[in-house]
This record gives sequence, structure tokens and C-alpha cells, in this order.
Amino acid sequence: MSQHSEHPNSARARIETRLAHLGRDPSSEHGVVNPPVYRASTIIHPTMEDMLAGAQRRYEQGAVTYGRFGTPTHFALEDAMAALDGGHRGMVLPSGLAAVVAAVTAFVGQGDHLLMADTVYGPARTLANGFLARMGVETTFYDPLLATDDLAKQLRPNTKLVYAESPGSYTFEIQDIPALSKLCRNAGIPLLMDNTWATPLFFPAIERGVDVAIYAGTKYIVGHSDAMMGVLVTTEATDGIVRRNLQDLGYSTGPDDVYLALRGLRTMEVRLTRHQENALIVAEWLQGRPEVERVMYPALPDDPGHALWRRDFLGASGLMGVLLKPVSDPAIFTMVDHLEYFGIGASWGGFESLVRLIPMQGYRSAVPWTSKSPCLRLHIGLENPKDLIEDLEAGFDRLKRAAEG
Ligand SMILES: Cc1ncc(COP(=O)(O)O)c(C=O)c1O
Repeated sequence: MSQHSEHPNSARARIETRLAHLGRDPSSEHGVVNPPVYRASTIIHPTMEDMLAGAQRRYEQGAVTYGRFGTPTHFALEDAMAALDGGHRGMVLPSGLAAVVAAVTAFVGQGDHLLMADTVYGPARTLANGFLARMGVETTFYDPLLATDDLAKQLRPNTKLVYAESPGSYTFEIQDIPALSKLCRNAGIPLLMDNTWATPLFFPAIERGVDVAIYAGTKYIVGHSDAMMGVLVTTEATDGIVRRNLQDLGYSTGPDDVYLALRGLRTMEVRLTRHQENALIVAEWLQGRPEVERVMYPALPDDPGHALWRRDFLGASGLMGVLLKPVSDPAIFTMVDHLEYFGIGASWGGFESLVRLIPMQGYRSAVPWTSKSPCLRLHIGLENPKDLIEDLEAGFDRLKRAAEG
């Protein structure tokens, strides 16, 4: 058992209990409840022989050989995330996008091809169209709603991975991940998935057949909008290749940020449960508004992805899309600029509510986005939902006056 690994019986415990106990062992830290922040670059070895042996052990679980390869602070978060996801091992990285880059580039090289969902987070698309294209890697973007048999026809002999995100960024389509996993197993290639929206609590990705689970820990894991973080969870088969690539890329994650992520993890179930409750209340209210064309949130019974979501997910987080009936940008700005409780900002997953307008142009290519309806993204935080609804209601009044104006 490594210093911060799980109590042998705790895999049987319920999720709230596991979140409270994973990745920490007070008995080996003088009784201190939380793992301390180890700040390190150099690691001093007792002998030259030990140092040489350390270089051989650098990829081993729990091996402390150099600051960049991780300290017990990093291992605590990595072990906890791997256990939550049903995975083999975890890796922390300095941002969610760093995790995307490290995972994808581990499996492709010049002359290779990959399949990427059309609905991925924008910078993942930019990675494919920019850096990967320059390195001679070709990407086909696929419709996330395409039947898996039809997607199989897009596999080529040089296809090296499938990259999914479910629900999709901005438009929240749910993909059939178990079916995709089967397709990838048959083709002998890994399935990578950005699972930031659901977290392992609402979608244990590795248990559902994903080979590398990707997290922007910046969102719900950190949970307080005060640190950047990425996490990867691997299977036994994918771990070595991703770990070596990560070392080649030279990433190193600050231990203070890892500490904040570990602290966030302890309350993640409580926060996500409340995000879900609040988001559903606000989403249902939005559905009744005359200004709203469609609320994109898979927990809504009439959402096109609802049946799959119910089958595979254990919950829904606080992020949703809202298509407004066509209205001018200045009218939307009047609505949004004066909201009291919704901050205007990128990112999400903190305790606070956020709003932003998503310019959909350029985000889709497999199925071009033709709608003229403005797309708002709302993150529903931990405020009282009645206050959020009153705030939005006043915003819609401003929108209406500006549109009539
Ligand atoms: C779905 C998703 N994946 C990855 C990222 C990237 O995370 P980070 O901002 O930590 O690089 C984001 C950020 O918004 C995201 O929304």
C-alpha cells in the first residue's frame, strides 16, 4: 500500500465516505488530517546507488525522485482520482487543456489520423486543427449523434484514437460511451474522453469503458475558482504511454494548487448535489420563458440525450446551454451586463453562478451550426435558486424592453 492509497476496505464504502478518506493517511503525517504541501525540486538521496536506482523507478507509483515527477501531495490527488474513476492511476497536470494535449499527443504521430467529436471544448478543436495538423496528424470531426456503426465507417487503418466529450461543450449532446468503447476495443485503439462536466462522481468514465479520462480539475474538483488544474486517469494498458509522454512534455504542477484541488475534492459530492438541484430548478423555469427557444441540459426529461443520460450517468452538474429566440446582441448585453448574481466570465465549476454568450460560429464542422438563435451558457452555482430566477427574470424584462425599444 503506497503512503496515500485507499484503505483496503474503502472501495466498498459509499462515495461520500470515500471522498472524505481517499488520498490521506493521518497516521503517517503526525496525525495531521490533510496531506501536507511538499514543495520540492531536488530530492536528496542517501547514496549514489539510490539516486541511480531512483532514475529507473521514476514512473513507479509513489516514487519520489524529482520535483517534476511528483511528490506525496501530487500522489494523494492522483490516487484519489484513479480510485473514484475505477482507473489504474492518475496524473495531475497544470491545466485541463494541458491534460487534453498530454493525452492526445501520447497516441499520435506523423501520418496518423484521429476521430474527434464535433462538440469538443473549443481549444481541443484548435489543438487538432493547429498543432496536430502541423505535426502531420489528420483529424476527422464526427457528429456526436451519429450511430456507432456509421462512425465505424470513418475508421481508417491509421486511426489511432477516438476523442469524445459527453455532454458536448456548449450544446450538451450525450454520446453512447459504452458503444464507442466497444467500437474502439474492436479496432484496437483507445477511447479518450473529456469527462469534466460529469466528474467521476456522475460518470465513472473508466468503469464505463473509457481508456483515458480527461478532467479540467479547474472546474468542479478545485471547485472554488481559485486554481488551474488538469487530471488524467488511465487504465493499466494506457498508463505507461501517457505517463512517458507527460514527462517528455515537461509539465509540472504546483503543489499548492494540488492542495487546493484535494481540498475541493472533499466537498465535491455535496457541491455537485446542490449544483444539480439548483440547475434543474432554473432549467425548468427557463423552459417556461417566452424568450427561450430551448434549454440544453440532459437532465431535462424532454432533452434529446435524456434517455442515454439516465442509462449511463449518475447525475447532472450545473452547466447548461440556453438558446434564446433570435434577438439582437445589444438587447442580450443589456440583459446580461446588469445581472446581479451571475458573473460574466469564462470557466465554470466554482461555487458561483456564471453567464456568457457563446459565439457558435467556428465551433462545428461535421454538422454546420446554422441556427441564428443566440446561445447563452449558464453555470448554476450554489446560491439560492429563487434569487437566481429573480435575477434572470429582471434580465428578461430588460431584454424585452431593449428588443422593443
Ligand atoms: C470541457 C472542458 N475541458 C477542458 C477545459 C480546459 O480546462 P482549463 O481551463 O483548466 O485548461 C475546459 C475549460 O473551460 C472545459 O470546459
